[in-house]
Amino acid sequence: MRSKLVAGNWKMYKTAAEGAVLATAIRNGLRRKPGVEVAVCPPFTALTAVAQALAGSPIALGAQNLHPEAEGAHTGEISAVMLKEHGCVYVIVGHSERRRECGETDALVNAKALAALKAGLIPIVCVGETREEREAGRTEAVLTEQIRGSLAGLGDRLEGLVIAYEPVWAIGTGLTATPQQAQEAHAHIRRLLAAMGGRDAAARTRILYGGSVKPDNAADLFSQPDIDGGLIGGASLKADSFLAIVHSA
Ligand code: PGA
Repeated sequence: MRSKLVAGNWKMYKTAAEGAVLATAIRNGLRRKPGVEVAVCPPFTALTAVAQALAGSPIALGAQNLHPEAEGAHTGEISAVMLKEHGCVYVIVGHSERRRECGETDALVNAKALAALKAGLIPIVCVGETREEREAGRTEAVLTEQIRGSLAGLGDRLEGLVIAYEPVWAIGTGLTATPQQAQEAHAHIRRLLAAMGGRDAAARTRILYGGSVKPDNAADLFSQPDIDGGLIGGASLKADSFLAIVHSA
C-alpha cells in the first residue's frame, strides 16, 4: 500500500562537479526496477548539476531546506518556487541539525512544510528525540509535541508529505536504533497521524527511518511494518553503499 522511499541527505558535502559524478554513479548502478522510490538531496549549489545528471532517470531530486515565504528580503534564503524550478520533488524540513544549529522551532518547520506543499513539493518532515530525552523516558512525549507542532493544520494533507523519524543520538554517530526501537517510534507517529488526519490517511503516509543506516542494518530496519524506507546521511555519499541500501529496501 505504501511504496518505500530511500532518500540520500548529502548535507554540506559535494561540490556541483562532485555531485554530478556521484549522481551519475548512482544512476548507472540502479537496477532497472529497484522496486522503491529513490531520491537524492544535494546542497543548493549542486542542484542543477545533479538534476542534469539524473535527467530521464527514475531518481528524484530533493533539497535540504527552504524559506517559508515565496519571495522577499531574506538574504541568503531560497524559496519553494526556486527549488521547484530546479527540478526538486522533495525538500527536507526540520532536520535536527537545523533545529539545533539554526534554532528551528516546530512552528517554523510547520510554516516551511506548508510553503513546500503550496508550491507542489513533498516535504520530508524530520522529528526525533535526543539521547537525554530517550534516557529520561520522554521519547513518545517529544515525538508527540514535534509531530503536532510541525504538522499543525496539515491533518487533511498528510498523504502529500513524508515523515522522517531520526533519533538525534543515532545521526552520524554509528549508533542505530534497533529495529524494535525504531518500529515503536514509527508506530507511535502513525497513531498520532491517525488522530490528526484519520486512519486511512495515516496508513498511507510514509514514515522513513534515519540515523546511521548502513548496508548491513538497512534490511532489518526496512522490514519493520511501519518503516517505509530511510533518510540516509553518511552512507549516501558513496554510490556503492547508497545503492546497497536502496536494493535492500
Ligand atoms: P546519518 O545521517 O545516516 O549520517 O546518520 C542521517 C541524517 O541526518 O539524515
